[in-house]
Amino acid sequence: MSTRDRLRIAMQKSGRLTEPALELLNRCGLSFRQSRDKLFCFGEGEPVDLLLVRDDDIPGLIAQGVCDLGIVGRNVLSEFSLGAGPEADLAEWRQLGFGRCRLSIAVPQEMAYEQPAQLAGRRIATSYPGLLGQWLRTQGIDAGVVTLAGSVEIAPRLGTADAICDLVQSGGTLVANQLRETDIVLESEAVLAGPRNLPSDERGDMIDLLFKRLDGVMQVRESRLLLLQASRGALDAVTRLLPGGPQPTLLPVAGQPDQFMLQALCAGEVSWRQLEEIKKAGAREMFVLPVEKMLA
Ligand code: PRP
Ligand code: ZN
Repeated sequence: MSTRDRLRIAMQKSGRLTEPALELLNRCGLSFRQSRDKLFCFGEGEPVDLLLVRDDDIPGLIAQGVCDLGIVGRNVLSEFSLGAGPEADLAEWRQLGFGRCRLSIAVPQEMAYEQPAQLAGRRIATSYPGLLGQWLRTQGIDAGVVTLAGSVEIAPRLGTADAICDLVQSGGTLVANQLRETDIVLESEAVLAGPRNLPSDERGDMIDLLFKRLDGVMQVRESRLLLLQASRGALDAVTRLLPGGPQPTLLPVAGQPDQFMLQALCAGEVSWRQLEEIKKAGAREMFVLPVEKMLA
């Protein structure tokens, strides 16, 4: 292990996770100097740098200690963990809520498929032999696994496989290749991966700080702050209509002893319809504000 004192995070160089991952890091107060076509991005302000690589390389880079953390799909992380020995003990430290997709079995549209047992004795093409093998074992199915690095979806047409096990997001690739999704092997999303034992030096402190900021960002991502005024008599009815969240705060309004300003953190979007209902219950001067940062 090197004696680096700056934290190094690996992420996908160009792909579906790149933009949202960078945006998330920016929201955590991290910004980077190098342009994105470079492999290495030097962090400004905080001692955190980025390594832009192929997503499949990310777990290995963490396991080797070249990077401290990585932003990667659960599918890639799990596949690596199944293939690597116990010495490469990686953990999924945070779920990041983007890059949602699933690793699924798909069969040719015309195949009469009802249950996984029908896959017995068939050949299934995949880039995820570890995850597929594990799923087949739990289903008690003996099938052939054809490992391909890419273009898995054309294997049935080429005659090199009878079914596939591949990532599905919109489903567009399956439709384009006349395939039908039948079983979900793994639900995936982008995660923050790292070693199970985190460093206990300055890098460990930085990881701690990053986790706290990330938790704050994730928590407020969908949150709204609702502000309104109501008279004492209307407070109960108004409060009952508030979207879920912690107890609202009441503030007195100067010079109007019967009036209150109410402040509530709402877990999700507040719709026009909800606002109109709350107004009918006696609220006035209503504002819905996005929440930018939160530190618990
Ligand atoms: C994945 C997967 C499918 C496609 C599915 O490839 O291998 O081909 O996405 O997405 P859809 O359901 O929205 O059509 P990706 O584009 O991530 O490239 P890669 O597998 O080569 O990294
Ligand atoms: Zn990939």
